[in-house]
Amino acid sequence: MLFNTGTRYGLASRALHWLIAAGIIGLTGLGAWMVSLGYFDSWYNRALVIHRSGGMIVLGLALLFAAWKVVSPSPPLQAELRAWERAGATAVHVLLLAAMFIVPASGYVISTSAGSGFPFLGPWEIPALLPRSETARDLAITIHYVAAYGLLPVIAVHAGAALKHQFVDKHGTLRRML
Ligand code: HEM
Repeated sequence: MLFNTGTRYGLASRALHWLIAAGIIGLTGLGAWMVSLGYFDSWYNRALVIHRSGGMIVLGLALLFAAWKVVSPSPPLQAELRAWERAGATAVHVLLLAAMFIVPASGYVISTSAGSGFPFLGPWEIPALLPRSETARDLAITIHYVAAYGLLPVIAVHAGAALKHQFVDKHGTLRRML
């Protein structure tokens, strides 16, 4: 079933959730590896090209995920959850949703801060929308770094809670997203 129901996520939300999760985790690993490469490494340029295109794809998927939430609202949190668990889950979901946009958008600003676009998946080009700015570049680098690495403990809490509610409390939480 494509649409979310009152108790389960539909195919569209599930596919987008796991594609975005895999994309964010993969791009974080790729980014950390990429900045450790030396200028003469054969992957120095290739890794950046893949990281940029992958990041723009995650941004597109995040836009679809958010739009789909409006078209087909998420199932309410499970009734078994205590008040503090509800508050925690909602806060973590908001942080994850925000990071899906902040991390790739700051990457876009870094990559276009010289006032020119960059190649996307080979033949296409992502245009620069903002004028050349060193200040924007420095700010975007800080945001990209803090948001990307700051997201890791949030993902760990989110995944840990999903696994605990599935396997320890037996609430069937993970099944809603599988
Ligand atoms: C980068 C990684 C991830 C991101 C950005 C992410 C993001 C999100 C967001 C925003 C929601 C809330 C959707 C809504 O508002 O309806 C959600 C729900 C969920 N996620 Fe993730 N997620 C990630 C990784 C994971 C992992 C690794 C697991 C499991 C091991 C997981 C399991 C779930 C489950 C079970 C739900 C549904 C919770 C419920 O409504 O009961 N997620 N995720």
